[in-house]
Order: sequence, then structure tokens, then C-alpha cells
Amino acid sequence: MPHDIKFTPLCEELAAKAREIAEKYVRPGAAKYDKAQEYNWDAARAVAEAGLFRTFIPKEYGGHGAGLVALARVTEELARADSGFGVAFAVNALGSFPIILGGTEEQKKRWLPSIAAGEKFVAFCLSEKFAGSDAGGLSVRATEDGDDYVICGEKKWTTNGGVADIYSVFCVTDPTSKSRRISAIVVEKGTKGFSVKKIEDKMGIRCVPVVETHFDHVRVPKRNLIGERDGMGFRHAMMTLDQARPGVAAQAVGAAQGALDLAIVYANRRQQFGVPISNHQMVQKMLADMAMKTEAARWLVYSAAAAVESQSPATSKMAAMAKCFATDVAMEVATDAVQVFGGYGYMEDYPIAKCFRDAKILQIYEGTNQIQRVVIARHLIKEAGELEHLSAYIPREVQQSYTEDNIPVDA
Ligand code: CAA
Repeated sequence: MPHDIKFTPLCEELAAKAREIAEKYVRPGAAKYDKAQEYNWDAARAVAEAGLFRTFIPKEYGGHGAGLVALARVTEELARADSGFGVAFAVNALGSFPIILGGTEEQKKRWLPSIAAGEKFVAFCLSEKFAGSDAGGLSVRATEDGDDYVICGEKKWTTNGGVADIYSVFCVTDPTSKSRRISAIVVEKGTKGFSVKKIEDKMGIRCVPVVETHFDHVRVPKRNLIGERDGMGFRHAMMTLDQARPGVAAQAVGAAQGALDLAIVYANRRQQFGVPISNHQMVQKMLADMAMKTEAARWLVYSAAAAVESQSPATSKMAAMAKCFATDVAMEVATDAVQVFGGYGYMEDYPIAKCFRDAKILQIYEGTNQIQRVVIARHLIKEAGELEHLSAYIPREVQQSYTEDNIPVDA
């Protein structure tokens, strides 16, 4: 079903600001921060000053309440200049969604205004060494002690760890329960016992830290329990991922467009056999395919963002489709862009190699593309009930294998 995609004037304004910042602060520093594996604070400050962190925060808490389509547009523009910076921005939305979706009024007032202002950065701590795709299998433990929770354990692959001030941490609060085992608790930077340990040395998205976060008897007041109701954590995590996946998909569209832009400029300039390589039909085919895929991904992403924003029953399916399709496209387009660049594409002297390295993680984080396909297929199977009227058009034989007892008489 097509979803009503609205580009409000505010959305256009935010996207235009993002594009300006991307060209002024993000693209020029991209190679430097990638090489040094350092956070691009200048660009983050420019994003804050332009009010872009307000995009995903509701109006009541100092945000623009601009919605997920606007968030997708802003992320896409930033990622077009540097996919790594795209996630450095979007991960703040990912970490904020548990508070926005599940927090109490007091919690929203406590944390969201400073996130909107870009004064505080956020991280989302779900994955662990032994709990990646199987998010429900996590083991970091939060034990009640008087008015507090005491958190023990380790989280893995915390994007923005160290930079972030606010961490949405998913913990086991009731190991005996199957459906209400997990709760989300906010831990603030500086809390005793909380530390960033291993800073990962990554293939791509090197301008944003990905770290292990360690919790050594971290004591936080119960009022940091998101929603102040335990057992809601897995639901909050899944709802958060539904909201955030169109964002990572938008990062992928930006990444694909960024690689395509460079490939077109190069193909028009690079001469072989006496003409620019863009005159050769095989190169034209590659460029055309890259452009078609990127455009198809873009509109699926906007459609998914609109579906999630309007709380469509197809929310999880659309979010998963956009994430899976757009990130596969980003990897394909980045691969082909390197091919168009030939030998130059393989060298770290030019940004195209970085586009390729940055693209791979898109197919892995915020749910691998295998998990996205599981989510999509589960929805399709559930929705099959609406197609019962087609049962007259499919084979009706009972599906069973032969046993001693049911071999047909004339067989
Ligand atoms: N919204 C609300 N509730 C949901 C939901 C959703 N989208 N999806 C599931 N639930 C609820 C179910 O209704 C069910 O509730 P009950 O127990 O009350 O019946 C409960 O959650 C369990 O659901 P499932 O049985 O479907 O759960 P599952 O164990 O089979 O897992 C999964 C489903 C889709 C595989 C899920 O584990 C998943 O999404 N895994 C991937 C995790 C992931 O994306 N990790 C990314 C980490 S973040 C990251 O990468 C960020 C970064 O670095 C930038």
C-alpha cells in the first residue's frame, strides 16, 4: 500500500541546512577523521547550531517534531558527504527513541531538551558479545537494591560510546520471566562503575566510535528505568528499531548517492581509448544501474518513514524492507563505483575506497539483512490471511507423504 510521503516546508528547510553543513563541515574533514579514527566535533557542533538534533525530538521537549521523513532527509544529506558522519548523527535518534517512545513525562523533560539542543549525545546499548541478532538473549543484569538498580556486565558494539552522555541500556531485570525479562535503563556518563573499555578498530565508519561499555556495579536510581515499569525493555527495543531502521536506510541512500556522484564525475573526466569512459556503453550501463537502484531505494525509504510515522500496521515490515533493500543497494553501488574508478578506486588516496569500506556495516548493524528478511517474511505469513479468497486458485491436494497406512490403493 503506498504511504503518504509529506515533505513539509520544515522538512525541506532542515534538509537544505543538512546539505550545507555536509559540504562545509563534513566532506572536507571526512578523510582526515577516517584516517585518524576521530570524531568530527566541528561537524557535530555545526549540526547542533543548525538545530538538526531537534529534528527527531517532539516539540514539547525542545525539538522540531519534524517526523521520520524529515529525519531520513537530514540523515541522507549528511551521509551523502560521509556515511560515517551519517551514523554519528542518526545514532542519537536511535538512543533517544526508547525515551521518546517509552519514557515517562518526567524522564522526557529530564533528558530530551538537552539532546534536542545538541548539548548531550546519546547511545543505544543492546548488543552483547553473545547476543547480537538474538537480542532477547542478552545477559547484562540489573538487580533491584532499595531505590536503585545495580547494573553488572558488558555491552558490545556501542556506537557513539565515549562521545555519548546518555546511554539507553537494555538489562535483564527478571531472569525468571520469558516475556518480561528485559528493561531499559538510562545510565549517564560519569556514573561510578560505568566505563568505555575496548575502542574498536573498524573497517569503516571510522569517524564515530564503536566501543565496549562495561558496567561494574553501576548504581542508578529506579527513576532511570524507562517508563518506570520493568519488563518492557524488549518491546521498547523492537519499537525503537522500527523507528530507527528507516534512518539507517536513509544513511544507505546517502552513501549510495555519494558514491554515484563521485563515479559520474570521474567517468566524465577519465579518458580511455581517446574518449571519456562515460562514452563507453559498459560504463554507462553501470552508472544507469547504480542510479536506478539508488532512486528505488530512496523512495522505499521515504515510504517506510511515512509508514512508521503514521503508525501503519505495516510498520515493522516497511522499516525492515527499507533497511534491507537500501543497505544492499549501498553495498552494490559502492562496489560498482570502485569498479568505475578502476585502479584509482582501490587506493586510499581518494574517498571512493572509503565509500566501499563504510557501506559494509550498513548490511550488518541495526539488525543484519538476514534478520530484516526474517521480519519481512513473518509479516507476509501473518498477512496471508487477507489472501484467503485466492485459495480457490492454488492446488488443493492434501500435502502429506506416504506411510504404510496411507499408500493409495492403485499406487
Ligand atoms: N514492536 C513491538 N513489539 C514487538 C516487535 C515490534 N516491532 N517485535 C516483536 N515484539 C514483541 C512480540 O510481540 C513479542 O511479545 P510477547 O512476548 O508479549 O508475545 C516479543 O516482542 C518477542 O517477539 P519475537 O518472538 O518476535 O522475538 P524474537 O526473539 O523471535 O526476535 C527478532 C525477533 C526480530 C529476531 C529480534 O530479536 C531482532 O530484531 N533482532 C535484531 C537485533 C538488532 O537489530 N540489533 C541491532 C542492535 S542496534 C545497532 O546495531 C545500532 C548501532 O550500532 C548503530
